[in-house]
Amino acid sequence: MAEATVSVPLEVYRFQPGRDRVPRYQRYTVELTPHTPVLSALLRVRAEIDPTLSLRYSCRSAICGSCAMQINSKSRLACETPVGPEIERHGRIVVEPMANQPVVRDLVVNQKPFWDRYESIEPHLKPDPDHPMPVGRPTSMSPQEVERFHDTPRCIACASCYSACPAVGADPEFPGPMALAKLYRFVVDPRDGGHQDRLVRIQASGLWLCLRCHLCTDSCPKNVRPSERIRDLKEMAIAVQGATEAGSRHAVGFKENLKGAGLLNEMRLARATLGLGGFAGQLGQGIRLWRKKPEVARRPHPIEGMAELDQIYAALDKGDEK
Ligand code: FES
Repeated sequence: MAEATVSVPLEVYRFQPGRDRVPRYQRYTVELTPHTPVLSALLRVRAEIDPTLSLRYSCRSAICGSCAMQINSKSRLACETPVGPEIERHGRIVVEPMANQPVVRDLVVNQKPFWDRYESIEPHLKPDPDHPMPVGRPTSMSPQEVERFHDTPRCIACASCYSACPAVGADPEFPGPMALAKLYRFVVDPRDGGHQDRLVRIQASGLWLCLRCHLCTDSCPKNVRPSERIRDLKEMAIAVQGATEAGSRHAVGFKENLKGAGLLNEMRLARATLGLGGFAGQLGQGIRLWRKKPEVARRPHPIEGMAELDQIYAALDKGDEK
């Protein structure tokens, strides 16, 4: 028996720079089965209602990454997002181009900023002379070494993570989740001779701008988990070079600060993050904060369950994160 169709209300972002002053949302309704992907709904609109709608796609099989767009405010692949659950959850389907990239027309964006930031991490192997590729074998890595980056080759460069990332929009220095996940892949590759330099460079150029919101991992259609790889890079950067940036000093200071009482002493944390000079520069603001909230400068009373926290710290110091 044929599957029943449902009415699919679409609100599609329309904008042609140079012609339109502002974007608008155009409404269309098509009859489709709930399993139909959003991409097919848009193609139906283009074929039967409005041939001027611009969008990008290719494989229609979640392989090429071309059809990434925002569907009900979430970056995802249109060819693998069925219309039924979207309508059930939101009552309509709002389709917009990916964020953090300029719109060329309607749902098509210019991906140059995304690729420029990817290029900035030098995404290629820098051969290690002490670890040469053996003649006659395709790789000199053991299965355990390959296992360390088995997630990242799944990336199809769809830029969903880049679109979802608030740090990308806020700071042009931040390479973005996909670039950092790829960087991790080279840092843990034993054939790469540049991993220490890579870590030093990335610590000074944007690594700590990551907000740890995990929206990149949430939006990744291939479960690459970029936010976890960024966390790994941060730990490795501190291990190689120490905490050299405000972000890494904040992370280390936060961990130290909680020891002993289980609550933050915000003044001490600000000093650890900013250093003595930076802290002195913020003294006026600190005094205003202290007048409003004197407890920020007091040594906090230990929380209940401090013994459990001590055990966690002891396990961390032993390197046992489980
Ligand atoms: S069209 Fe290729 S991933 Fe969707």
